[in-house]
Amino acid sequence: MSVSTPLLAPATPLPQEETLDASLAEAAAYRALVERLSRQSVAKHYDAYLDIPWDDADYAIDPADPRWELSANDPLGATAWYRALPQERRARFGLELIASFAKIGSQFENVLQRGLLEFALRLPNGAAEYRYCLHEVIEEGQHSLMFQEFVNRTGMPIPGLPWWMQAGSRMVVRCGRAFPELFFLFVLGGEDPIDYVQREQLRTGEFSHPLLRRISQVHITEEARHLAFARAFLRHHVPKLGAWKRTLLRVRAPILLGQMARVMMQPTPAMVRRHAIPRGVLREAYDAPAARARRVAALRKPRELCVELGIAVPPFDRLWRRMGIW
Ligand SMILES: [Fe+2]
Ligand SMILES: [Fe+2]
Repeated sequence: MSVSTPLLAPATPLPQEETLDASLAEAAAYRALVERLSRQSVAKHYDAYLDIPWDDADYAIDPADPRWELSANDPLGATAWYRALPQERRARFGLELIASFAKIGSQFENVLQRGLLEFALRLPNGAAEYRYCLHEVIEEGQHSLMFQEFVNRTGMPIPGLPWWMQAGSRMVVRCGRAFPELFFLFVLGGEDPIDYVQREQLRTGEFSHPLLRRISQVHITEEARHLAFARAFLRHHVPKLGAWKRTLLRVRAPILLGQMARVMMQPTPAMVRRHAIPRGVLREAYDAPAARARRVAALRKPRELCVELGIAVPPFDRLWRRMGIW
């Protein structure tokens, strides 16, 4: 049986054409997502002073209020050292810890805003990322106002990050321009653990004070967009990186994420000194299997993304284990 070959056979795409089609489709999907996030930023956003009734009597802060006490779900709250403190000191300590996280949150957002502006400065006209990043800068500005107002209203001396970390943050800001893939990993390293902790505390009803509940609701809603953008950015840009920058990411990602999780979830050195928290208590609270599991759970999403993008691959997984976040 003879098979006649038509003169003009239907074109079967060459492998290179298929790759090109796939990458054009991926670029279009990425742009559509960024544009959608920008529209959502207009449709649903909050103002730190319009959307939080700071002066409502129910929202007032009384440092002795038992609602500030750390629950047994908190690693430090579960220790015998904390439980043995008098009630008023337990409440004050709990409020100070929350205010300390709020202060660190506002300092972290300051770094984010500066890094996002560095990144946006070099974008070409028409870039969808430009509009979205500016929306995010504005939202982080509102969050900083909200967190700082909370800190001010506690009337407590809250120093936040130690000076050497504040100085080190300039390197992160520079990454916004020079190495945005590392910068957006830093974004995930800060935002994902905070988001995890806030969602957990809302879910378990630990945030029983209405002010804290309101601040968390506002933050979680807007952070969902920031996290979606950072993940999409990394998925779009990391596969295009050369070998050297990819290796840098593989080494730096676990170190950055491991350090960030501790800063975002443990008392600052200043707080440890002021309250003379014994070393053994800190070890019991933050090096125990339960605390380790909490850190691992808080970093689940960025870790899975790093696996997907080929950043957390052998032998670099050893660094993740070393940092206690695998
Ligand atoms: Fe924020
Ligand atoms: Fe954010």
